[in-house]
Amino acid sequence: MNITRTKLLRLPEFIDEARLLSTQNKSVIPFSIKRVFIISEVQKKTQRGKHAHKKTKQALFCIQGSVTVRLNDGKKKTIYHLDRPNKGIFIDNMVWSEMSSFSPDAILVVFASDYYDERDYIRDYGRFLELSR
Ligand code: TYD
Repeated sequence: MNITRTKLLRLPEFIDEARLLSTQNKSVIPFSIKRVFIISEVQKKTQRGKHAHKKTKQALFCIQGSVTVRLNDGKKKTIYHLDRPNKGIFIDNMVWSEMSSFSPDAILVVFASDYYDERDYIRDYGRFLELSR
């Protein structure tokens, strides 16, 4: 099952003595990037996310280790397992996301279409379902 508001992304990889991943506006990530944040040193059994964004679109990559991401657009649910440095997902606005099963070494890099603003978050699942109707 696939949600139209999410899709798998692949960053181009350049591998010689190292692995180099690259992206730039209008390539791979389907929005202009205003913000980048990084999640690492995740403690055992941690779940993160559990929110949706009213406007912000995101592209999430697990550049080291692995993580499971559950997505829900209010109608359909899907699960991605990110386990390759260049494999990521596009998460549109108004998509509920939950991250779990982080490997101990997991490092997530998230590109966002907007600056951080707590008012853009929907943290209540019932409210999300209401708004996504
Ligand atoms: P949150 O988005 O809830 O984290 P996650 O999606 O991983 O569960 O953010 C956790 C805290 O970090 C929150 O107090 C706000 C802060 N924060 C920023 O200041 N800037 C940011 O870009 C992000 C993503 C979070």
